[in-house]
Amino acid sequence: MKIGVLGTGMVGQGLADKLISLGHSVKMGARQADNTNATAFVARHNDHAFSGTFSEAAAFGELLIVATTGTTALQVLDAAGKANLAGKVVIDVSNPLDFSKGFPPTLLVSNTDSLAEQLQRAHPEAKIVKTLNTTNVAMMVNPQQLTQATDIFVSGDDAAAKLEVIALLKSFGWENPIDLGDISTARCTEMLLPLWLRLWTVQGSPIFNFKIVR
Ligand SMILES: NC(=O)c1ccc[n+]([C@@H]2O[C@H](COP(=O)([O-])OP(=O)(O)OC[C@H]3O[C@@H](n4cnc5c(N)ncnc54)[C@H](OP(=O)(O)O)[C@@H]3O)[C@@H](O)[C@H]2O)c1
Repeated sequence: MKIGVLGTGMVGQGLADKLISLGHSVKMGARQADNTNATAFVARHNDHAFSGTFSEAAAFGELLIVATTGTTALQVLDAAGKANLAGKVVIDVSNPLDFSKGFPPTLLVSNTDSLAEQLQRAHPEAKIVKTLNTTNVAMMVNPQQLTQATDIFVSGDDAAAKLEVIALLKSFGWENPIDLGDISTARCTEMLLPLWLRLWTVQGSPIFNFKIVR
């Protein structure tokens, strides 16, 4: 399918490359159409890879992914434009992290609200689904690199949108994504980030993940 990836950092690039490898067509969006990472993405794929502004990528995609800094995700969806978001599934992988005072970052929103809910409230025309924010980008696109299956979480108000996202996650190698419920459950996964960051420090590697043992 045609997918718009809004974001050109490690996550945008990793997801866009994976989507191309799975046979999707991807337009990577940035503030500037000539963004270096986006043009490099186009250059390393023969076909099906495009770049443009956030708005152009959103217009292109039948499904969209928000992969920008948490501090700017709202601005980025605004820039994408309501008409380009209308009726579309928008996967939010961003985290509301404030690095302005260094490491560890603090959460910009928590407990009673989440970034995903802010995106959904600002853009009711879109179907926001929060997922993949609790794991490193190398894990997102290759979860089977660990010695055992681990878990990934999904939050969103629209049941059909979550099923579509779960199917995409399974195509990435996630065996059994856990549907946590409505978009307010994104509070829980966003609040996992302080723990994830401390685990990263302790482990010295980002290649690990959460596993629910039953
Ligand atoms: N790194 C990971 O493994 C990982 C794992 C899980 C979740 N996440 C989350 O995924 C998101 C992306 O992470 P990342 O490390 O790939 O990249 P990042 O450095 O957090 O974000 C890069 C993107 O943010 C955009 N951006 C920065 N400032 C902006 C502004 N003022 N206005 C509009 N857009 C702006 C950039 O736009 P341009 O393209 O125009 O430069 C770029 O596309 C983050 O929210 C992060 O917390 C990351």
